[in-house]
Amino acid sequence: MCGIVGYTGPKEAYPIVITGLKRLEYRGYDSTGVALLNGGLKVYKKKGRVAELEDAIVGKNLHSHTGIGHTRWATHGEPSDVNAHPHTSASGKLAMIHNGIIENYAQLKKELTNKGYTFSSETDTEVLLNFIEDIKENNKCDLEEAVRVALKRVTGAYVILLLDEENPDTIIAARKGSPLVIGVGKGEHFLGSDASPMLEYTKEVVYVNDYELAIVKPNELILKNLGNEKITPFVTKLDMELAAIEKGGYDHFMLKEIVEQPSTIHDCLRGRLDANAGTITMSGIQDNIEHFKKANRIIMVACGTSWHAALLAEYIIEELCRIPVEVEYASEFRYRNPIINKGDIIVAISQSGETADTLVAIERAKENGAIIFGVVNVVGSSIARISDGGAYTHAGPEIGVASTKAFTGQLAVLTMMALKIAKEKGTISNDRYKNLLLELEAVPEKVSAILKNAEDLKKIALKYKGASDALFLGRGYNFPIALEGALKLKEISYIHAEGYPAAEMKHGPIALVDENLPVVFIATKDSYHEKIVSNIQEIKARKGKVIAIITEGDDVIPGMADDVFYVPAADEIIAPILSTIPMQLLSYYVGIAKGVDVDKPRNLAKSVTVE
Ligand code: M6R
Repeated sequence: MCGIVGYTGPKEAYPIVITGLKRLEYRGYDSTGVALLNGGLKVYKKKGRVAELEDAIVGKNLHSHTGIGHTRWATHGEPSDVNAHPHTSASGKLAMIHNGIIENYAQLKKELTNKGYTFSSETDTEVLLNFIEDIKENNKCDLEEAVRVALKRVTGAYVILLLDEENPDTIIAARKGSPLVIGVGKGEHFLGSDASPMLEYTKEVVYVNDYELAIVKPNELILKNLGNEKITPFVTKLDMELAAIEKGGYDHFMLKEIVEQPSTIHDCLRGRLDANAGTITMSGIQDNIEHFKKANRIIMVACGTSWHAALLAEYIIEELCRIPVEVEYASEFRYRNPIINKGDIIVAISQSGETADTLVAIERAKENGAIIFGVVNVVGSSIARISDGGAYTHAGPEIGVASTKAFTGQLAVLTMMALKIAKEKGTISNDRYKNLLLELEAVPEKVSAILKNAEDLKKIALKYKGASDALFLGRGYNFPIALEGALKLKEISYIHAEGYPAAEMKHGPIALVDENLPVVFIATKDSYHEKIVSNIQEIKARKGKVIAIITEGDDVIPGMADDVFYVPAADEIIAPILSTIPMQLLSYYVGIAKGVDVDKPRNLAKSVTVE
């Protein structure tokens, strides 16, 4: 959460910083602020989105060659002008932005208050900044040294960027737990929570690691550890174009990302799956194949939508590979004392690769000797780097807060993984394997076919947009998709929604059913079809409104459901990828009809880098 941007070099800093903030707004949009150095420190900040700050400071002298900017997802202190970053130190000479949480800020605040410091905001950031300044003054050291000393006392997670009036072309940055990318240009440097603010200027980036400190000047980038030893920056080439992070003519990133799925799923399969040859090439799996073949257990850790992908993977891997799988919420796993045995493999699933709970969960498991396999979308992200092996989803940048194309990418990767392991282990017949390869290969085309009927979902969405609650029910492989459908609707439309295994509905949720409750059934043709037909009858008997996602050619369910949406026929293991698309579109259209900012729904942030 929170986006940070910085620039130092010959160009005007403000336009780079403000454009960068717009690209990082998906990380939080409670307030915006910039600090610029130009013969002194100038700070402009405001509650609300980047555009609001931009409007508020029209006409100000924004000339500067060194600047930092912040877009906030509030943790300590409500969204307000005063809690907005950057914060300035007691002397007014330092400015700082921060992404993360300083856990021992109360103790540090007490110490500073006893020394006479006062604070204008409620933030942990202002405390850390003054703590740094206090060290700088007492130890008579430079800012770099003060930051190093201060960070040794700090617990929690952070990326911080600091400006100092006394060094007008320098940005001091440090990281632990939150992401920081430094772009290396010709006589200039860019800083960001991800690479999007620097894409049009440079493709050469350095991913800063935990406990590293960077001294960034136009012509120089010095990386050090907290022990003041220099580290050689490792420069990586970015494989991303500006177009990938622009709306490209769509009204919303969410719609663009839904519509992109035929090509993102294709990109995910490309070069890996060859149905004719009967092969799956995944070097991350191949390098670890003996571990997977011998694995006693696979533990999947993830949050949110990625957790739903893990749940479906559990069903598929247990079916095809006969390896026991456990699916854990990363936030729970990291604080329990889980039993990790030799031979267990941890699979971490994350779009951003930066989710704090998932990251720490795998760090803990790694300390206990577990092998970590990452299924990640963002190349070079923290989870990708800490994993022993992995497979990227190749969905491209996902900007909309609601995860869409990254989820179907995760499903495609996890299905390929399962098929590859099953083949190597000999737990799948040749015919089934070949057939599933063909089925997977056909997914992009079938997704295109579904998207052509998007208008049908729009009509359904308009019919039910006034609902206050909704139930999503599915069985077997479609149960995780019911959970995902409910999560999407909640996020994007603010309608209260619950996902359940369809049979479990009788054990409580059925009490909610009346003529006002829409119940979405994911009822594609599979081994549970007759059972789910009975569940539909049970809802209809209580006058619930049934919206059913069904397979083309189904002539049973249309006679009993209020609304149906058809998806092409597919093997039951593959069908969930297809059923996901109507879930996404339904939520999108309900959200739009209700006037929700679907790309930035309230209270959410794309990348949850605080626990
Ligand atoms: O980046 P990650 O996949 O680790 O993120 C996990 C969740 O925060 C994320 O899936 C969240 O639930 C999305 N908003 C869902 O649309």
